[in-house]
Amino acid sequence: MIRTHTCGELNISNLGQSVTLCGWVQKSRDLGGTTFIDVRDRYGLTQLVFNTDTDAALRDTSRELGREFVIKVSGTVLERTNKNLKIPTGEIEIAVDGIEILNAAKLPPFLIEDETDGGEELRAKYRYLDLRRAPIRNNLVLRHKMAQEIRKYLDGLDFIEVETPVLIKSTPEGARDFVVPSRMNPGEFYALPQSPQTFKQLLMVSGFDRYFQIVKCFRDEDLRADRQPEFTQIDCELSFITQEDILNIFEGLTRHLFTTVKGIDLGTFPRMQYADAMRLYGSDKPDVRFGMEFVELNDIVKGKGFGIFDNAELVVGINAKGCASYTRKQIDELTEWLKRPQIGVTGMIYCRYNEDGTLKSSVDKFYNEDELTNWAAAFNAEIGDLMLVLAGPADKVRKQLNELRLEMGSRLGLRDKNKFAPLWVLDFPLLEWDEESSRYHAMHHPFTSPKPEDIDLLDTDPGAVRANAYDLVINGTEVGGGSIRIHDRAMQSLMFKHLGFSPEEAQKQFGFLMDAFEYGAPPHGGLALGFDRLVSIFAGLDSIRDVIAFPKNNSGRDVMIDSPSTIADAQMTELKIRTTV
Ligand code: AMO
Repeated sequence: MIRTHTCGELNISNLGQSVTLCGWVQKSRDLGGTTFIDVRDRYGLTQLVFNTDTDAALRDTSRELGREFVIKVSGTVLERTNKNLKIPTGEIEIAVDGIEILNAAKLPPFLIEDETDGGEELRAKYRYLDLRRAPIRNNLVLRHKMAQEIRKYLDGLDFIEVETPVLIKSTPEGARDFVVPSRMNPGEFYALPQSPQTFKQLLMVSGFDRYFQIVKCFRDEDLRADRQPEFTQIDCELSFITQEDILNIFEGLTRHLFTTVKGIDLGTFPRMQYADAMRLYGSDKPDVRFGMEFVELNDIVKGKGFGIFDNAELVVGINAKGCASYTRKQIDELTEWLKRPQIGVTGMIYCRYNEDGTLKSSVDKFYNEDELTNWAAAFNAEIGDLMLVLAGPADKVRKQLNELRLEMGSRLGLRDKNKFAPLWVLDFPLLEWDEESSRYHAMHHPFTSPKPEDIDLLDTDPGAVRANAYDLVINGTEVGGGSIRIHDRAMQSLMFKHLGFSPEEAQKQFGFLMDAFEYGAPPHGGLALGFDRLVSIFAGLDSIRDVIAFPKNNSGRDVMIDSPSTIADAQMTELKIRTTV
């Protein structure tokens, strides 16, 4: 070994030992003869000290050193006079007797310290340097620890890790596929998997019984803070299992991760029906770190001559506790925020519960104090509260109020990153209407089974059919989702029919799966957790980018390797995508 220790492990118990360390020069300070250098590696920082007046060789080498040079140093562990108790090595320093430069370094384009001066684009271009910074490195260490615990837990429950192919044919999960041209089959394309859904189901037909894979998935969709074009799932499937078993196993996995990695016992996860989540929070992934549930007001506000309420399908609001002191200016600013095209509210009604016990609304012309008392009762409002009300088509207004609720939650400091609120959302609709294509789409995916008691509704009221489908939500993020699957050919064909596939199209795209169902398919179900999202929640980050070693930017580009990029004409010709002129 070139080194005897890492830069993070020496402490007072090593006093007097001769050691050799390797690492990167974080910074050096020359205090008139006495020189201090901080040397850094993955494990930490160690302070080096030597006297350039008395040692000419050290003086010459140290003059060559710059930030990020790679060095090997030997010396003796001494107790520091000026201790830094914030770092594990802060009580010692190394009295250096030799420095060897293993490699020189150009001046890095930004400071490689916890707080850096580098902008996002610059750090992305030099991601390998950004990864030297402790906060980013720690995220990847966390990710590694979680992956190990996941494997341990699932292996302990007899799950088998199986790799499924990456060059496949499209599986419809609702996003666009990334495609790869096939040189050997001109004009034909593979698709990269949006998930291993059909393969894991086939593994159940093969009798594997319990499968998992920590697997890359690819989706060509618009990017957001919690979406990357390639991301990782903890993908699982089980046979001879009920929904209840699946919820318990993966609640167990999530709790195991929280206790082993964060030392937090989350307790039993609450469960909520999809319909209730939409009614109470206007979202299928409610952030239940805080209450502020929706209050529907149709019964008490309609018929008083206020057209906006009278003509609305739904009048609904939230109680912003303690916000009665909001000024007119603050309320106007909030209304403007809601009017942005992303949310699209046309106006917001409010009612203050003032300190003097009076109720004052922005629609006093239509509602007297007695009527406002009814509002306050519906909202469970107390002195000092501010009731915020929106009106409009039910689905739209719920979505808008969800945004307002989350914003008020943030403003009131109710979305603490160190608090974790898990929630199972159950009984999703099987189908959702898509305006653009004027047909139903599978809300989860086409392999999800309908609830047996709702099957009759498929013909009469398809939108009302509920699925055996569930999502795991933590702090308002959809961390995972899954379902009990269809395992019978006739039911799967019926499902494709309702999704607008002709029998021929269904056979062409999914014949392999339906054929497999005829060779003894066990009842099965599963789920996939979004690994990047889970890690980012553990790390207290809003974006999944910093828990991914080499992520893409918002335009789906890797600016470090400059990808995507054009390919040579010769390559295009070989792939028969386009012939050269
Ligand atoms: P689903 O599409 O819900 O289910 O995906 C499962 C989980 O993967 C995560 N996820 C993403 N994470 C980052 N970037 C993305 N672009 C992205 N898309 C999804 C989410 C999500 O909950 N085959 C089914 C699972 C099953 O039925 O077993 C599936 O893929 O956290």
